[in-house]
Amino acid sequence: MSNLWGGRFREATDASAYKFNQSISFDRRMYREDIEGSIAHATMLGKQGIISEEESCLITDGLKKIREDIESGVLIISDEAEDIHSFIESVLTERIGDAGKKLHTGRSRNDQVALDMKLYTKEQVKETDTLLLMLQKELLSIMEANIETYMPGFTHLQKAQPVTLSHHIGAYFEMFIRDRERLADIIKRMDTCPLGSGALAGTTYDLDREMTASLLDFKGGPTRNSMDSVSDRDYLIEFLSALSLIMMHLSRFCEEIIIWNSNEYGFVEIDDRYSTGSSIMPQKKNPDIAELVRGKTGRVYGSLMSLLTTMKGIPLAYDKDMQEDKEMAFDAMDTVKDCIREFTGMISTAVFQKDTMALSAKRGFTNATDAADYLVKKGVPFRDAHSIVGRLVLKCVGKGIALDDLSLDDFRTESGVFEDDIYEAISMKTCVEKRLTKGAPGRKQMAEAIEFYREYTGG
Ligand code: ARG
Repeated sequence: MSNLWGGRFREATDASAYKFNQSISFDRRMYREDIEGSIAHATMLGKQGIISEEESCLITDGLKKIREDIESGVLIISDEAEDIHSFIESVLTERIGDAGKKLHTGRSRNDQVALDMKLYTKEQVKETDTLLLMLQKELLSIMEANIETYMPGFTHLQKAQPVTLSHHIGAYFEMFIRDRERLADIIKRMDTCPLGSGALAGTTYDLDREMTASLLDFKGGPTRNSMDSVSDRDYLIEFLSALSLIMMHLSRFCEEIIIWNSNEYGFVEIDDRYSTGSSIMPQKKNPDIAELVRGKTGRVYGSLMSLLTTMKGIPLAYDKDMQEDKEMAFDAMDTVKDCIREFTGMISTAVFQKDTMALSAKRGFTNATDAADYLVKKGVPFRDAHSIVGRLVLKCVGKGIALDDLSLDDFRTESGVFEDDIYEAISMKTCVEKRLTKGAPGRKQMAEAIEFYREYTGG
Protein backbone atom coordinates (compact mmCIF):
# COMPACT_ATOMS: atom_id res chain seq x y z
CA MET A 1 0.00 0.00 0.00
CA SER A 2 1.61 3.27 -1.11
CA ASN A 3 1.68 6.24 1.23
CA LEU A 4 0.02 9.60 0.60
CA TRP A 5 3.15 11.67 0.27
CA GLY A 6 5.64 9.77 -1.95
CA GLY A 7 6.16 12.52 -4.59
CA ARG A 8 9.18 14.32 -3.14
CA PHE A 9 11.00 11.19 -2.05
CA ARG A 10 13.66 9.28 -3.97
CA GLU A 11 13.69 6.32 -1.64
CA ALA A 12 11.10 4.35 0.26
CA THR A 13 11.05 4.60 4.04
CA ASP A 14 13.29 2.09 5.78
CA ALA A 15 11.15 -0.91 6.67
CA SER A 16 11.69 -0.71 10.39
CA ALA A 17 11.35 3.09 10.41
CA TYR A 18 8.04 2.61 8.61
CA LYS A 19 6.89 0.23 11.29
CA PHE A 20 8.07 2.64 13.97
CA ASN A 21 6.19 5.52 12.34
CA GLN A 22 2.90 3.77 11.59
CA SER A 23 -0.21 4.20 13.68
CA ILE A 24 -2.60 1.85 11.85
CA SER A 25 -2.04 -0.82 14.50
CA PHE A 26 -3.82 1.35 17.04
CA ASP A 27 -5.74 4.10 15.20
CA ARG A 28 -7.75 1.54 13.20
CA ARG A 29 -10.35 1.70 15.93
CA MET A 30 -11.21 5.25 14.75
CA TYR A 31 -12.41 4.13 11.31
CA ARG A 32 -15.99 5.19 12.02
CA GLU A 33 -15.01 8.67 13.14
CA ASP A 34 -12.65 9.04 10.20
CA ILE A 35 -15.39 8.12 7.73
CA GLU A 36 -17.94 10.35 9.45
CA GLY A 37 -15.53 13.30 9.27
CA SER A 38 -14.74 12.62 5.62
CA ILE A 39 -18.42 12.38 4.72
CA ALA A 40 -19.02 15.79 6.31
CA HIS A 41 -15.99 17.27 4.55
CA ALA A 42 -16.96 15.89 1.13
CA THR A 43 -20.57 17.01 1.54
CA MET A 44 -19.37 20.52 2.33
CA LEU A 45 -16.87 20.54 -0.58
CA GLY A 46 -19.74 19.64 -2.92
CA LYS A 47 -22.09 22.26 -1.55
CA GLN A 48 -19.39 24.94 -1.82
CA GLY A 49 -18.66 23.97 -5.42
CA ILE A 50 -15.05 23.09 -4.59
CA ILE A 51 -15.71 19.67 -6.07
CA SER A 52 -18.77 18.80 -8.15
CA GLU A 53 -21.97 17.53 -6.54
CA GLU A 54 -21.51 14.33 -8.48
CA GLU A 55 -18.00 13.82 -7.10
CA SER A 56 -19.25 14.63 -3.65
CA CYS A 57 -21.93 11.93 -3.93
CA LEU A 58 -19.49 9.39 -5.31
CA ILE A 59 -17.21 10.05 -2.35
CA THR A 60 -19.87 9.93 0.34
CA ASP A 61 -21.49 6.79 -1.10
CA GLY A 62 -18.05 5.20 -1.40
CA LEU A 63 -17.26 6.04 2.21
CA LYS A 64 -20.54 4.62 3.46
CA LYS A 65 -19.86 1.41 1.56
CA ILE A 66 -16.38 1.20 3.08
CA ARG A 67 -17.90 1.56 6.55
CA GLU A 68 -20.44 -1.15 5.77
CA ASP A 69 -17.74 -3.47 4.43
CA ILE A 70 -15.46 -2.96 7.42
CA GLU A 71 -18.36 -3.66 9.74
CA SER A 72 -19.46 -6.80 7.91
CA GLY A 73 -15.88 -8.07 7.71
CA VAL A 74 -15.76 -7.89 3.89
CA LEU A 75 -13.03 -5.26 4.07
CA ILE A 76 -10.13 -5.94 6.42
CA ILE A 77 -8.15 -2.92 7.60
CA SER A 78 -4.67 -3.56 6.26
CA ASP A 79 -1.68 -3.49 8.60
CA GLU A 80 0.38 -2.10 5.79
CA ALA A 81 -1.27 1.31 5.64
CA GLU A 82 0.49 4.11 7.50
CA ASP A 83 -2.61 5.10 9.42
CA ILE A 84 -6.39 4.80 9.29
CA HIS A 85 -6.68 8.05 7.31
CA SER A 86 -4.39 6.80 4.53
CA PHE A 87 -6.09 3.43 4.51
CA ILE A 88 -9.59 4.77 3.98
CA GLU A 89 -8.52 7.32 1.38
CA SER A 90 -6.60 4.75 -0.61
CA VAL A 91 -9.42 2.17 -0.56
CA LEU A 92 -11.83 4.90 -1.64
CA THR A 93 -9.63 5.89 -4.58
CA GLU A 94 -9.13 2.26 -5.53
CA ARG A 95 -12.90 1.83 -5.57
CA ILE A 96 -14.20 5.08 -7.13
CA GLY A 97 -11.19 6.35 -9.07
CA ASP A 98 -10.27 10.02 -9.52
CA ALA A 99 -13.09 11.47 -7.39
CA GLY A 100 -11.49 9.73 -4.41
CA LYS A 101 -8.32 11.75 -4.95
CA LYS A 102 -10.29 14.95 -4.37
CA LEU A 103 -11.47 14.07 -0.86
CA HIS A 104 -8.41 15.57 0.78
CA THR A 105 -8.91 18.97 -0.90
CA GLY A 106 -8.55 21.72 1.71
CA ARG A 107 -7.76 19.24 4.46
CA SER A 108 -4.69 17.88 6.21
CA ARG A 109 -4.24 14.79 8.30
CA ASN A 110 -3.55 17.21 11.12
CA ASP A 111 -7.07 18.59 11.28
CA GLN A 112 -8.38 15.16 10.29
CA VAL A 113 -6.74 13.37 13.21
CA ALA A 114 -7.66 16.19 15.58
CA LEU A 115 -11.26 15.72 14.50
CA ASP A 116 -11.25 11.91 14.68
CA MET A 117 -9.78 11.92 18.14
CA LYS A 118 -12.32 14.46 19.39
CA LEU A 119 -15.22 12.49 17.95
CA TYR A 120 -13.86 9.27 19.42
CA THR A 121 -13.27 10.86 22.83
CA LYS A 122 -16.77 12.36 22.94
CA GLU A 123 -18.23 8.90 22.43
CA GLN A 124 -15.96 7.44 25.11
CA VAL A 125 -16.97 10.13 27.58
CA LYS A 126 -20.61 9.22 26.99
CA GLU A 127 -20.00 5.49 27.35
CA THR A 128 -18.08 6.01 30.57
CA ASP A 129 -20.87 8.18 31.91
CA THR A 130 -23.49 5.54 31.11
CA LEU A 131 -21.46 2.89 32.93
CA LEU A 132 -21.15 5.14 35.97
CA LEU A 133 -24.91 5.63 35.97
CA MET A 134 -25.39 1.83 35.91
CA LEU A 135 -23.05 1.54 38.86
CA GLN A 136 -24.92 4.27 40.73
CA LYS A 137 -28.20 2.42 40.19
CA GLU A 138 -26.73 -0.70 41.78
CA LEU A 139 -25.32 1.32 44.67
CA LEU A 140 -28.72 2.92 45.17
CA SER A 141 -30.42 -0.44 45.56
CA ILE A 142 -27.83 -1.48 48.15
CA MET A 143 -28.47 1.79 49.96
CA GLU A 144 -32.23 1.33 49.90
CA ALA A 145 -31.92 -2.11 51.46
CA ASN A 146 -29.50 -1.06 54.21
CA ILE A 147 -30.81 2.05 55.93
CA GLU A 148 -30.76 0.14 59.19
CA THR A 149 -27.65 -1.91 58.63
CA TYR A 150 -25.42 -0.56 61.38
CA MET A 151 -21.71 -0.72 61.03
CA PRO A 152 -18.67 1.02 62.43
CA GLY A 153 -17.55 4.14 60.65
CA PHE A 154 -13.74 4.42 60.75
CA THR A 155 -11.11 7.09 61.01
CA HIS A 156 -7.45 6.01 60.91
CA LEU A 157 -8.99 2.59 60.17
CA GLN A 158 -9.96 2.56 63.86
CA LYS A 159 -13.59 2.19 64.75
CA ALA A 160 -14.97 5.67 65.33
CA GLN A 161 -18.73 6.16 65.35
CA PRO A 162 -21.62 4.06 64.14
CA VAL A 163 -22.94 4.66 60.63
CA THR A 164 -25.02 2.53 58.31
CA LEU A 165 -24.00 0.62 55.23
CA SER A 166 -26.39 2.85 53.33
CA HIS A 167 -24.53 5.95 54.48
CA HIS A 168 -21.14 4.46 53.74
CA ILE A 169 -22.15 3.47 50.20
CA GLY A 170 -23.69 6.92 49.81
CA ALA A 171 -20.24 8.46 50.19
CA TYR A 172 -19.17 6.65 47.02
CA PHE A 173 -22.39 7.57 45.27
CA GLU A 174 -21.45 11.22 45.85
CA MET A 175 -17.96 10.67 44.40
CA PHE A 176 -19.48 9.21 41.28
CA ILE A 177 -21.83 12.19 40.99
CA ARG A 178 -18.79 14.47 40.89
CA ASP A 179 -17.08 12.15 38.40
CA ARG A 180 -20.07 12.40 36.10
CA GLU A 181 -20.18 16.17 36.45
CA ARG A 182 -16.55 16.31 35.41
CA LEU A 183 -17.34 14.23 32.32
CA ALA A 184 -20.20 16.55 31.36
CA ASP A 185 -17.89 19.50 31.85
CA ILE A 186 -15.26 18.06 29.51
CA ILE A 187 -17.82 17.71 26.73
CA LYS A 188 -18.90 21.34 27.12
CA ARG A 189 -15.35 22.61 26.69
CA MET A 190 -14.29 20.27 23.90
CA ASP A 191 -17.37 20.64 21.75
CA THR A 192 -15.79 22.65 18.93
CA CYS A 193 -14.86 21.30 15.51
CA PRO A 194 -11.24 21.48 14.29
CA LEU A 195 -12.05 20.36 10.73
CA GLY A 196 -11.08 23.05 8.22
CA SER A 197 -7.99 24.12 10.14
CA GLY A 198 -5.83 22.40 7.53
CA ALA A 199 -2.25 21.55 8.42
CA LEU A 200 -2.06 24.57 10.73
CA ALA A 201 -3.02 27.73 8.85
CA GLY A 202 -6.46 27.08 7.43
CA THR A 203 -6.83 26.91 3.65
CA THR A 204 -7.39 29.14 0.63
CA TYR A 205 -10.54 27.24 -0.33
CA ASP A 206 -13.86 28.68 0.63
CA LEU A 207 -14.70 26.00 3.20
CA ASP A 208 -17.93 26.25 5.15
CA ARG A 209 -16.69 25.32 8.59
CA GLU A 210 -20.02 26.12 10.23
CA MET A 211 -21.58 23.48 8.03
CA THR A 212 -19.11 20.69 8.85
CA ALA A 213 -19.26 21.56 12.56
CA SER A 214 -23.02 21.27 12.50
CA LEU A 215 -23.03 18.07 10.38
CA LEU A 216 -20.72 16.54 12.97
CA ASP A 217 -22.86 17.78 15.85
CA PHE A 218 -20.34 20.09 17.51
CA LYS A 219 -22.51 22.34 19.66
CA GLY A 220 -19.83 25.02 19.92
CA GLY A 221 -19.37 25.36 16.13
CA PRO A 222 -15.92 25.50 14.51
CA THR A 223 -12.75 26.22 16.51
CA ARG A 224 -11.42 29.80 16.45
CA ASN A 225 -7.68 29.37 15.88
CA SER A 226 -6.36 26.89 13.33
CA MET A 227 -2.97 26.44 15.00
CA ASP A 228 -4.54 25.70 18.34
CA SER A 229 -7.05 23.39 16.67
CA VAL A 230 -4.45 20.98 15.30
CA SER A 231 -2.28 20.98 18.40
CA ASP A 232 -4.83 20.93 21.20
CA ARG A 233 -5.00 17.78 23.28
CA ASP A 234 -6.17 19.51 26.45
CA TYR A 235 -9.55 17.80 26.30
CA LEU A 236 -7.84 14.43 26.26
CA ILE A 237 -5.73 15.33 29.25
CA GLU A 238 -8.88 16.49 31.02
CA PHE A 239 -10.52 13.20 30.19
CA LEU A 240 -7.52 11.20 31.41
CA SER A 241 -7.61 13.26 34.56
CA ALA A 242 -11.32 12.57 35.06
CA LEU A 243 -10.63 8.88 34.38
CA SER A 244 -7.84 8.93 36.96
CA LEU A 245 -10.24 10.33 39.54
CA ILE A 246 -12.82 7.67 38.71
CA MET A 247 -10.12 5.03 39.20
CA MET A 248 -9.01 6.63 42.46
CA HIS A 249 -12.58 6.36 43.74
CA LEU A 250 -13.00 2.79 42.51
CA SER A 251 -9.66 1.88 44.01
CA ARG A 252 -10.57 3.21 47.45
CA PHE A 253 -13.85 1.34 47.24
CA CYS A 254 -12.00 -1.85 46.24
CA GLU A 255 -9.57 -1.41 49.09
CA GLU A 256 -12.50 -1.34 51.51
CA ILE A 257 -14.17 -4.33 49.90
CA ILE A 258 -10.88 -6.25 50.15
CA ILE A 259 -10.57 -5.38 53.84
CA TRP A 260 -14.24 -6.11 54.53
CA ASN A 261 -13.98 -9.42 52.67
CA SER A 262 -11.05 -10.59 54.80
CA ASN A 263 -11.64 -13.30 57.42
CA GLU A 264 -10.79 -10.79 60.13
CA TYR A 265 -13.57 -8.40 59.16
CA GLY A 266 -16.14 -10.64 57.49
CA PHE A 267 -18.38 -7.67 56.64
CA VAL A 268 -18.98 -8.86 53.11
CA GLU A 269 -18.67 -11.98 51.03
CA ILE A 270 -17.75 -11.45 47.42
CA ASP A 271 -19.70 -13.80 45.16
CA ASP A 272 -17.95 -16.85 43.70
CA ARG A 273 -18.42 -15.35 40.25
CA TYR A 274 -16.15 -12.46 41.20
CA SER A 275 -13.56 -14.37 43.25
CA THR A 276 -10.76 -16.74 42.39
CA GLY A 277 -9.01 -19.60 44.14
CA SER A 278 -5.44 -20.57 44.85
CA SER A 279 -3.53 -23.26 42.98
CA ILE A 280 -2.00 -24.52 46.22
CA MET A 281 -4.18 -23.45 49.15
CA PRO A 282 -7.55 -25.19 48.84
CA GLN A 283 -9.28 -22.90 51.34
CA LYS A 284 -8.57 -19.65 49.49
CA LYS A 285 -11.16 -17.40 47.92
CA ASN A 286 -9.41 -14.29 46.75
CA PRO A 287 -10.82 -10.88 45.85
CA ASP A 288 -8.85 -10.69 42.59
CA ILE A 289 -11.31 -8.49 40.74
CA ALA A 290 -11.17 -5.81 43.42
CA GLU A 291 -7.38 -6.09 43.57
CA LEU A 292 -7.08 -5.76 39.82
CA VAL A 293 -9.24 -2.66 39.72
CA ARG A 294 -7.06 -1.20 42.46
CA GLY A 295 -3.96 -2.24 40.53
CA LYS A 296 -5.10 -0.86 37.20
CA THR A 297 -5.49 2.55 38.78
CA GLY A 298 -1.75 3.02 38.50
CA ARG A 299 -1.91 2.25 34.82
CA VAL A 300 -4.53 4.94 34.18
CA TYR A 301 -2.55 7.51 36.20
CA GLY A 302 0.40 6.49 34.01
CA SER A 303 -1.49 7.44 30.86
CA LEU A 304 -2.29 10.85 32.29
CA MET A 305 1.32 11.51 33.27
CA SER A 306 2.51 10.21 29.95
CA LEU A 307 0.35 12.53 27.84
CA LEU A 308 1.07 15.53 30.06
CA THR A 309 4.76 14.85 29.59
CA THR A 310 4.46 14.29 25.84
CA MET A 311 2.67 17.60 25.38
CA LYS A 312 4.79 19.81 27.58
CA GLY A 313 7.64 20.59 25.24
CA ILE A 314 6.34 20.45 21.70
CA PRO A 315 6.29 23.62 19.61
CA LEU A 316 3.16 24.71 17.75
CA ALA A 317 1.50 23.39 15.76
CA TYR A 318 1.29 19.64 15.00
CA ASP A 319 4.27 17.42 15.82
CA LYS A 320 4.41 13.68 15.42
CA ASP A 321 4.90 13.33 19.17
CA MET A 322 1.16 13.82 19.36
CA GLN A 323 0.52 10.47 17.71
CA GLU A 324 1.59 9.09 21.11
CA ASP A 325 -1.69 10.37 22.57
CA LYS A 326 -3.58 7.39 21.19
CA GLU A 327 -2.20 4.20 22.65
CA MET A 328 -2.19 5.56 26.18
CA ALA A 329 -5.57 7.23 25.88
CA PHE A 330 -7.19 4.17 24.32
CA ASP A 331 -5.69 1.96 26.97
CA ALA A 332 -7.02 4.20 29.74
CA MET A 333 -10.48 4.43 28.14
CA ASP A 334 -10.73 0.63 27.78
CA THR A 335 -9.33 -0.02 31.24
CA VAL A 336 -11.71 2.32 33.02
CA LYS A 337 -14.77 0.96 31.23
CA ASP A 338 -13.73 -2.60 32.07
CA CYS A 339 -13.10 -1.65 35.68
CA ILE A 340 -16.48 0.04 36.14
CA ARG A 341 -18.23 -2.93 34.52
CA GLU A 342 -16.48 -5.56 36.63
CA PHE A 343 -16.78 -3.53 39.81
CA THR A 344 -20.52 -3.13 39.21
CA GLY A 345 -20.92 -6.88 38.79
CA MET A 346 -18.89 -7.56 41.90
CA ILE A 347 -20.63 -5.08 44.19
CA SER A 348 -24.14 -5.95 43.05
CA THR A 349 -23.64 -9.65 43.78
CA ALA A 350 -21.73 -9.27 47.05
CA VAL A 351 -23.49 -10.33 50.25
CA PHE A 352 -23.16 -7.96 53.19
CA GLN A 353 -23.02 -9.64 56.60
CA LYS A 354 -25.28 -7.32 58.54
CA ASP A 355 -24.94 -9.04 61.93
CA THR A 356 -21.17 -9.05 61.78
CA MET A 357 -21.15 -5.37 60.93
CA ALA A 358 -23.51 -4.47 63.78
CA LEU A 359 -21.56 -6.57 66.27
CA SER A 360 -18.34 -4.95 65.16
CA ALA A 361 -19.81 -1.49 65.73
CA LYS A 362 -20.96 -2.52 69.20
CA ARG A 363 -17.67 -4.12 70.20
CA GLY A 364 -15.66 -1.22 68.93
CA PHE A 365 -17.03 1.38 71.39
CA THR A 366 -18.41 3.37 68.49
CA ASN A 367 -21.09 4.60 70.90
CA ALA A 368 -18.57 6.17 73.29
CA THR A 369 -19.17 9.68 71.92
CA ASP A 370 -22.88 9.16 72.45
CA ALA A 371 -22.30 8.08 76.06
CA ALA A 372 -20.37 11.32 76.60
CA ASP A 373 -23.12 13.31 74.87
CA TYR A 374 -25.63 11.64 77.21
CA LEU A 375 -23.80 13.12 80.20
CA VAL A 376 -23.50 16.50 78.50
CA LYS A 377 -27.25 16.62 77.96
CA LYS A 378 -27.61 16.05 81.71
CA GLY A 379 -25.39 19.03 82.50
CA VAL A 380 -21.87 17.51 82.68
CA PRO A 381 -19.27 19.65 80.84
CA PHE A 382 -18.08 17.84 77.69
CA ARG A 383 -14.45 17.58 78.76
CA ASP A 384 -15.47 15.87 82.04
CA ALA A 385 -17.91 13.61 80.21
CA HIS A 386 -15.12 12.63 77.78
CA SER A 387 -12.90 11.61 80.64
CA ILE A 388 -15.63 9.69 82.51
CA VAL A 389 -16.49 7.65 79.42
CA GLY A 390 -12.77 7.14 78.71
CA ARG A 391 -12.43 5.49 82.12
CA LEU A 392 -15.51 3.35 81.45
CA VAL A 393 -14.03 2.23 78.13
CA LEU A 394 -10.84 1.27 79.91
CA LYS A 395 -12.89 -0.79 82.36
CA CYS A 396 -14.63 -2.56 79.44
CA VAL A 397 -11.32 -3.23 77.68
CA GLY A 398 -10.13 -4.94 80.86
CA LYS A 399 -13.23 -7.11 80.99
CA GLY A 400 -13.45 -7.70 77.25
CA ILE A 401 -17.00 -6.33 77.01
CA ALA A 402 -18.89 -3.54 75.24
CA LEU A 403 -20.09 -0.31 76.89
CA ASP A 404 -23.69 -1.50 76.82
CA ASP A 405 -22.67 -4.65 78.72
CA LEU A 406 -21.71 -2.66 81.83
CA SER A 407 -24.14 -2.79 84.72
CA LEU A 408 -25.76 0.43 85.89
CA ASP A 409 -23.63 0.19 89.04
CA ASP A 410 -20.51 0.07 86.88
CA PHE A 411 -21.66 3.20 85.10
CA ARG A 412 -22.47 4.94 88.35
CA THR A 413 -19.08 4.28 89.93
CA GLU A 414 -17.72 6.80 87.42
CA SER A 415 -20.66 9.26 87.55
CA GLY A 416 -23.86 9.41 89.55
CA VAL A 417 -25.50 11.14 86.59
CA PHE A 418 -26.00 7.82 84.77
CA GLU A 419 -29.49 6.40 84.97
CA ASP A 420 -31.34 3.50 83.44
CA ASP A 421 -31.96 5.39 80.21
CA ILE A 422 -28.23 5.17 79.34
CA TYR A 423 -28.81 1.80 77.62
CA GLU A 424 -31.39 3.24 75.28
CA ALA A 425 -29.17 6.31 74.67
CA ILE A 426 -26.19 4.27 73.52
CA SER A 427 -27.94 1.57 71.52
CA MET A 428 -26.71 1.45 67.91
CA LYS A 429 -30.17 2.37 66.73
CA THR A 430 -30.32 5.51 68.87
CA CYS A 431 -26.75 6.49 68.06
CA VAL A 432 -27.53 6.48 64.36
CA GLU A 433 -31.12 7.79 64.52
CA LYS A 434 -30.13 10.70 66.71
CA ARG A 435 -27.70 11.98 64.11
CA LEU A 436 -29.97 14.63 62.74
CA THR A 437 -27.68 16.94 60.84
CA LYS A 438 -28.01 17.06 57.09
CA GLY A 439 -25.66 14.51 55.59
CA ALA A 440 -25.64 12.31 58.71
CA PRO A 441 -26.59 8.61 58.65
CA GLY A 442 -29.87 9.05 60.60
CA ARG A 443 -32.89 7.40 59.02
CA LYS A 444 -34.64 10.67 58.10
CA GLN A 445 -31.52 12.19 56.56
CA MET A 446 -30.74 9.01 54.70
CA ALA A 447 -34.30 8.75 53.38
CA GLU A 448 -34.01 12.30 52.02
CA ALA A 449 -30.66 11.53 50.43
CA ILE A 450 -32.03 8.37 48.86
CA GLU A 451 -34.98 10.31 47.46
CA PHE A 452 -32.49 12.66 45.84
CA TYR A 453 -30.44 9.77 44.44
CA ARG A 454 -33.60 8.16 43.03
CA GLU A 455 -34.47 11.28 41.14
CA TYR A 456 -30.86 11.77 40.10
CA THR A 457 -30.72 8.30 38.53
CA GLY A 458 -33.99 8.92 36.74
CA GLY A 459 -36.57 7.29 38.96
N1 ARG B 1 -1.10 9.21 12.60
C1 ARG B 1 -0.97 10.61 12.79
C2 ARG B 1 -1.35 10.91 14.27
O1 ARG B 1 -1.97 10.12 14.85
C3 ARG B 1 -1.89 11.35 11.89
C4 ARG B 1 -1.45 12.74 11.58
C5 ARG B 1 -0.28 12.73 10.67
N2 ARG B 1 0.15 14.04 10.33
C6 ARG B 1 1.36 14.30 9.87
N3 ARG B 1 1.65 15.53 9.64
N4 ARG B 1 2.24 13.36 9.73
O2 ARG B 1 -1.01 11.94 14.81
